[in-house]
Amino acid sequence: MLQIAVLGYGTVGSGVVEVIEKNQELIQKKAGDQVYVKHVLDLRDFPGDPIQERIVHDYDVIVKDPEIKVVVEVMGGINPAYEFVKAALEAGKSVATSNKALVAKHGAELLAVAKEKNVNFFFEASVGGGIPIIRPLNTCLTADDVDEISGILNGTTNYMLSKMTFEGLGFDSVLKDAQNKGYAESNPEADIEGHDACRKIAILTSLIMGQQVNFEEIPTEGITNITAEDIKYAQAMGRRIKLLATSKKKNGMVYARVAPFLVSADHALYGINDVFNAIFVHGNMLGDAMFYGSGAGKLPTASAVVADVIDALRRTENAPVEWKKEPLRLADVTEAKSRFFVRLKGDIAQAKAMFGDDMAKGWSVSNIIVDGECGFITNEITEKQFETITARSENIVNRIRLL
Ligand code: HSE
Repeated sequence: MLQIAVLGYGTVGSGVVEVIEKNQELIQKKAGDQVYVKHVLDLRDFPGDPIQERIVHDYDVIVKDPEIKVVVEVMGGINPAYEFVKAALEAGKSVATSNKALVAKHGAELLAVAKEKNVNFFFEASVGGGIPIIRPLNTCLTADDVDEISGILNGTTNYMLSKMTFEGLGFDSVLKDAQNKGYAESNPEADIEGHDACRKIAILTSLIMGQQVNFEEIPTEGITNITAEDIKYAQAMGRRIKLLATSKKKNGMVYARVAPFLVSADHALYGINDVFNAIFVHGNMLGDAMFYGSGAGKLPTASAVVADVIDALRRTENAPVEWKKEPLRLADVTEAKSRFFVRLKGDIAQAKAMFGDDMAKGWSVSNIIVDGECGFITNEITEKQFETITARSENIVNRIRLL
């Protein structure tokens, strides 16, 4: 019997127990023996739940138990998850985690400890829920210079934006719905302000660059400024608003950001709706690839965690992952060029006076979506140019970048 422990009996933790029970036979075949959850660490008790007899409140019980081969960390947050994971690795146990905050902050260090102890630190579920993306980057795409990753990496906000687009629902009601379905973080601010997607793109960028990308340095905007009117403008343009996390290499520098974008109908990310995530990857040899699937929720996430457990149990050695601790200096995104959709209080003549040659001749609309406003698209300009042009105006209602 292969014994494991689970830290945290919340949404994902209970999912891990469920996946192991439901798919017991096939997991046994793949792992080489029966996988058994011996301990579950949680502050709470779960009277009436069959797991209750395996609940422990003291982490020492787990870390000092020589029978535990793999520790599953699904408690979330940095402390005490970091201390617990490090102690498990130092005790010679492999770890599987879904905790993106932990991986984004301490991934390089924890991988180094795992290497030193000849065990594994796996984190497939930390990005894209049940979608395989970490392992493909670490194994299948190692012959490529991956020069772009652009993804819909947060299920909650994609679910919310989809509901707002297709059902005309308001922000608060769709957020509640996403929380009830178990997609959102315990503090949903992490979803709607883009922090969750920011940590995920930091992890993916660290992996393609082979060194630490500090998430604090990635400019991040969420979807709290997106209104029903913005959605109507998007529809009038034949585009959809998506919260994207992007990382692009240009002239040896990496431009990374998280923000809402207006995605055109011919882009692969346009059709990614509901709670689904998709990660678009471009490699210099591969060309385009896209990884698509269930990006959040109890069982999809637990499925990826349990697959990591099986992988860890099958291995006798550390699987190498390139992720050095030295932080990478990111490029200044204010130098990056974009086209912007702008909503301006006033008419198109005022827009022309403001943007002049920087205003695209293509799409504009006045007074149809919102009275007293016009909406238009700029030519490709840098963020800096955009800020300079609009700095003194109080008439900008909103601006969203185009993809
Ligand atoms: N809150 C996250 C999301 C969960 O909505 O994508 C998966 O990381």
